[in-house]
Amino acid sequence: MNEMIQKMKTRHAIRRFQDKPIEEELLDQILEAGLYAPSAGNNQYSRIVVCQDKEVNEKLGKINRYMQFKGNDPAKVAHSISNDQPSIQDDFTIMNGYYDAPCVLTIFTRKGPYAQSDGAMIAENIWLAAHFLGLGACYIGRTGEVFATEYGLEMRRKWGVPEDMEAVCNVILGYCEGPMPKEKPRKESRIIKV
Ligand SMILES: Cc1cc2nc3c(=O)[nH]c(=O)nc-3n(C[C@H](O)[C@H](O)[C@H](O)COP(=O)(O)O)c2cc1C
Repeated sequence: MNEMIQKMKTRHAIRRFQDKPIEEELLDQILEAGLYAPSAGNNQYSRIVVCQDKEVNEKLGKINRYMQFKGNDPAKVAHSISNDQPSIQDDFTIMNGYYDAPCVLTIFTRKGPYAQSDGAMIAENIWLAAHFLGLGACYIGRTGEVFATEYGLEMRRKWGVPEDMEAVCNVILGYCEGPMPKEKPRKESRIIKV
């Protein structure tokens, strides 16, 4: 199998991070990979906000976790995702939806039919680039809801994000704590060749 495809197969959702910052040079390479993602009609109308402020990330991460359960009992609504790298749905004691990652990216794209797709393209490029460079990453959802809260709105204003953009997703980044997780088997019959 092609070496790059093989490497893509070893990308995982990483949620346990070392308390160690990411070297600027590596971070810049990862962000550049994000900029080279395709966009609908080559609009390139996006912003990637890079936040390494612990306090801000923790506040937003707690709101993110809240948005997952919205006051419901997690035991009643959660489903198991990963034992190796537990998510907020696996371990209800995790109160930060950004998992205390040292670096949290928020991806903003132009409002409209391609907003989510453009954002996801950027996120996947970043996720793979991080993995190729020996870092761990994970896509995080509920971003639109988080940035519609008072604190989220305050942050995006402070960051200078244009008003015609929407927050579509987060990617958390850092060095993986502990061993890399095992490969999750992929379900069968998902390809229909006609
Ligand atoms: C659209 C999307 C949303 C996701 N949202 C979250 C999330 O909010 N929190 C989280 O911990 N993981 C999230 N994930 C990561 C998935 O749980 C993870 O990719 C999945 O369990 C498969 O594991 P793998 O990435 O290691 O193959 C998301 C992934 C995608 C593609």
